[in-house]
Amino acid sequence: MNVASAELNTKPLRVVIGVGGGIAAYKAAHLVRYFTERGHQVRVIPTRSALNFVGAATFEALSGQPVATDVFDAVDEVQHVRLGQEADLIVVAPATADLMARIAHGRADDLLTASCLVATCPVVLAPAMHTEMWLNPATVDNVATLRSHGLTVLDPAHGRLTGKDTGAGRLPEPEQIGELALTVLADREAFTRDLEGKKVVISAGGTHEPLDPVRYLGNASSGRQGYALAEVAAQRGAEVTLVAGVTENLPTPIGAELVRVKTAREMQQAVMEHAPSADVVVMAAAVADYRPAEVAESKMKKDSEADLSTIKLTENPDILAGVVEARRQGDVASTTKIVGFAAETGDENNSPLDLARKKLKKKGCDLLMCNAVGEGKVFGQPDSSGWILRPNGDVTEVPEGPKTGVAAAIWRAVCETH
Ligand code: CTP
Repeated sequence: MNVASAELNTKPLRVVIGVGGGIAAYKAAHLVRYFTERGHQVRVIPTRSALNFVGAATFEALSGQPVATDVFDAVDEVQHVRLGQEADLIVVAPATADLMARIAHGRADDLLTASCLVATCPVVLAPAMHTEMWLNPATVDNVATLRSHGLTVLDPAHGRLTGKDTGAGRLPEPEQIGELALTVLADREAFTRDLEGKKVVISAGGTHEPLDPVRYLGNASSGRQGYALAEVAAQRGAEVTLVAGVTENLPTPIGAELVRVKTAREMQQAVMEHAPSADVVVMAAAVADYRPAEVAESKMKKDSEADLSTIKLTENPDILAGVVEARRQGDVASTTKIVGFAAETGDENNSPLDLARKKLKKKGCDLLMCNAVGEGKVFGQPDSSGWILRPNGDVTEVPEGPKTGVAAAIWRAVCETH
């Protein structure tokens, strides 16, 4: 059963945070905070080896709840079944190779594995280990087994590991784990591995169009929706290139290759470079339609002779329309799916949906996600809602919820498009 998104914002959840014995166990303390700050009740179940890294007192103080590791702790409360049975969500971070092996094989030799074995709620594992361990066929098989049993195993991040080594196996940031876990709670199918082997290109954020070395024309896009699309696509198994314009300071989505751009023309170049090898192109960026016709080489001065009261603009390329045209010409594969966005306020004669229908026709893409914007809605906000439109007239409503949930709805629609 899925927990309705709206409920997630109001209903206090019973969250079990399992902590494996790895150096990244210290990040679990922040994960406890992530959930308690949102009003949820957290029980921490560390493995015995996790307590070598972080003491029980830390978890007890942060969660305000007792901490136990063994099935024989507090036997009178029958903890080994009660905590797992009553949980709304179990998040295991870090999930070590050994811990995943034990859960995959149905072991119940400590309180955490026993809790996972009785749980019917979503169980989300955030692995952290050395790259060799992550790539070892035994771990690969265990991950596949866990996923086939309906547990969610997040892909680890790339980056600095415990020693001098870097690679896949780093624990993602606690906020990323928390957000992804809540996404799974709202939609258990959010991270179905249906994009395995697919390449996707996603644009995000706004563009800055320079007027002079210190001034630009820009917009209020935060980039959150594009980042959420990248995050969810990577967790569904895709190879992700995220072409990010100007965004808020957001963590790089786990597993995504980040290409930074500033202007619409830079974004066009990056998208067109990657589109020919992509299975899906999603234009979530808020691209400036116009740029200043001339860019001053030095800072424009009030007392200069030039007329500064008027800015002459020139039109920017329409990147989305360009990708559609490249597909028509055969430069992008005919099988590549193209997704556009529409941010609409509506006007006196048209609802946002009416305008989105017209835009879908004009742009010629395969799916269009329409957000009704304005009055503080969508831009810069963690939540969003809207409609997914298809050229055959079908419309899927996307209810109000976190942008990761909206991203999951978009990827589901993409995967259903043939
Ligand atoms: N887009 C684009 N290149 C542009 C402008 C927009 O690729 N120069 C893409 C956006 O990323 C989005 C879609 O086109 O996927 C719709 O963007 P939007 O700004 O809503 O539409 P416009 O075509 O600019 O139309 P208008 O501003 O008139 O509503």
